[in-house]
Amino acid sequence: MRTAICPGSFDPVTVGHIDIITRASKLFDKVIVAVLVNVEKKPWFTINERIDLLKKATIGIDNVEIAGFDGLLVDFAKQNNACAIVKGLRAVSDFEYEFQMALTNSKLAPDMETMFLTTSSEHMYLSSSIVKQVGLWGGDISPFVPDCVHDEILMRIRQRSKLK
Ligand code: PNS
Repeated sequence: MRTAICPGSFDPVTVGHIDIITRASKLFDKVIVAVLVNVEKKPWFTINERIDLLKKATIGIDNVEIAGFDGLLVDFAKQNNACAIVKGLRAVSDFEYEFQMALTNSKLAPDMETMFLTTSSEHMYLSSSIVKQVGLWGGDISPFVPDCVHDEILMRIRQRSKLK
C-alpha cells in the first residue's frame, strides 16, 4: 500500500489543485490531501471550510482522503505511513520556494521523498490568490474553481468583501 500526501493551504481549492490530486491518485494506492498551516499566509477560509470544499471537489476520486493537520508536514506524513509528498510545480517562480521546503522536509525526515508534478499548461497561471482577487472584484471565477464548489467559494469571497 503506497500512500502519498498532497499538502497545501488550499485557500480555496482550484481546478489546478484537483488536476494534481487526480494525477497523484493514479500513481499511488492512496492519496491524503492535507490542509496545513502556512505561517506566511493569512487564510480567508477556515480549515474546516477548506476541508469541506476539498471533500466535495474530490468526491469522484475513490482513493483520496482529506485531512487537516496543525503541525509539521513530515510528522503528518509519518503518522500516515506515507512514502512521498506530492506537490504541483507551476513555473520557475515556484521552484525556489518549493525546493527550500523539499530540502527542509528531507532534512527533517530523510526517508520522505518529495515528488513534483508539473502543472498542466492550462493551469500554469492559476493560484488560490488569483481566485480571491478575481472574485473580490466581481470577476467570473468559474474557469478557476471546481463547478460543484463554485457557489460556496463565491459566497464566501463576497462575505469577505463586505467585511472590508
Ligand atoms: O499551498 P502552500 O501554502 O504552498 O503550502 C505550504 C504548506 C502548507 C505545505 C507548508 O507551509 C507546510 O508544510 N506547512 C506545515 C508546517 C511545516 O511542515 N513546515 C516545514 C516545511 S518548510
